[in-house]
Amino acid sequence: MKEKALEYRDVSFTYGQESGFSIEHLDFEVEEGEFVAVLGHNGSGKSTLARLADGLLTADGGEIRVFGRPVTEKNLFEIRKDVGIVFQNPDSQAVASIVEDDVAFGAENVGLPREEIGKRIGFALRAVGMEEYRTATISRLSGGQKQRVAIAGVLALKPRVMILDESTAMLDPRGRREIVGVVKKLNEEEGITVLLITHFLEEAMLASRAVVMDRGKIVMQDAPEAVFRREEELLTYHLALPRITEICNRLRAGGIAVQNTLDVETLAEEIAKCVS
Ligand SMILES: Nc1ncnc2c1ncn2[C@@H]1O[C@H](COP(=O)(O)OP(=O)(O)OP(=O)(O)O)[C@@H](O)[C@H]1O
Ligand SMILES: [Mg+2]
Repeated sequence: MKEKALEYRDVSFTYGQESGFSIEHLDFEVEEGEFVAVLGHNGSGKSTLARLADGLLTADGGEIRVFGRPVTEKNLFEIRKDVGIVFQNPDSQAVASIVEDDVAFGAENVGLPREEIGKRIGFALRAVGMEEYRTATISRLSGGQKQRVAIAGVLALKPRVMILDESTAMLDPRGRREIVGVVKKLNEEEGITVLLITHFLEEAMLASRAVVMDRGKIVMQDAPEAVFRREEELLTYHLALPRITEICNRLRAGGIAVQNTLDVETLAEEIAKCVS
């Protein structure tokens, strides 16, 4: 059996009574090697869920484990080696002006030897497709490239779980596809467990499981394809499907059995097959 990367057991959490937000009796788990997309509109609790995993926030009740190790004060050092979080804004994450220095920063902080750091920079930049930019100036990069550098910095620490908290929110559609592609590759080729937090539903399509949060609760949990078919339910959680997915759903309702896809040409081919 696969190991559990993340386990939330009967977890409760509140920011204080006046905040009006709470998590109660939350159960959730992610197996090693999974790629889970966490969807939900603003304030549904996605970042809270992420921050509980690496001890940035502490649960009021229940238990959270990372690879079997409880998230407690005394385990934080070990927990943070396992869990890497990439945040939303690449500009606020960079700590150095040159790509390789920035990628090295975290690895230097945990005291890895020079030679190992050099290797890790190479590995991380290769993994995100930024090798040729090793000595580039970060401020000259595109948003998507900056975010790839931020991911490389986390990757250089070789985390077993990567949490991307709206890491694509500041990017244009192309930049977003770029990042999700990189993440998918890390999941498949490096075996890194991924939790991708987003409110762009199309990003969930490549995940092995999509989880929808609403008001501190997990309200849907299934294969992305299956979640996307439940259009009306998604709307009640203020989540709108990508236009092309709506069209796929309409076609199926009308008896044309197309698969969900985000690609217009693939859809056109499917329709042609179905109607010919
Ligand atoms: N430090 C805090 N103190 C008080 N309330 C907070 C704090 N951080 C978040 N909240 C509240 O908790 C709720 C959940 O916040 P959270 O950041 O987990 O949501 P989210 O799903 O990540 O939202 P977004 O899509 O905007 O990032 C929100 O109502 C938010 O206002
Ligand atoms: Mg958030």
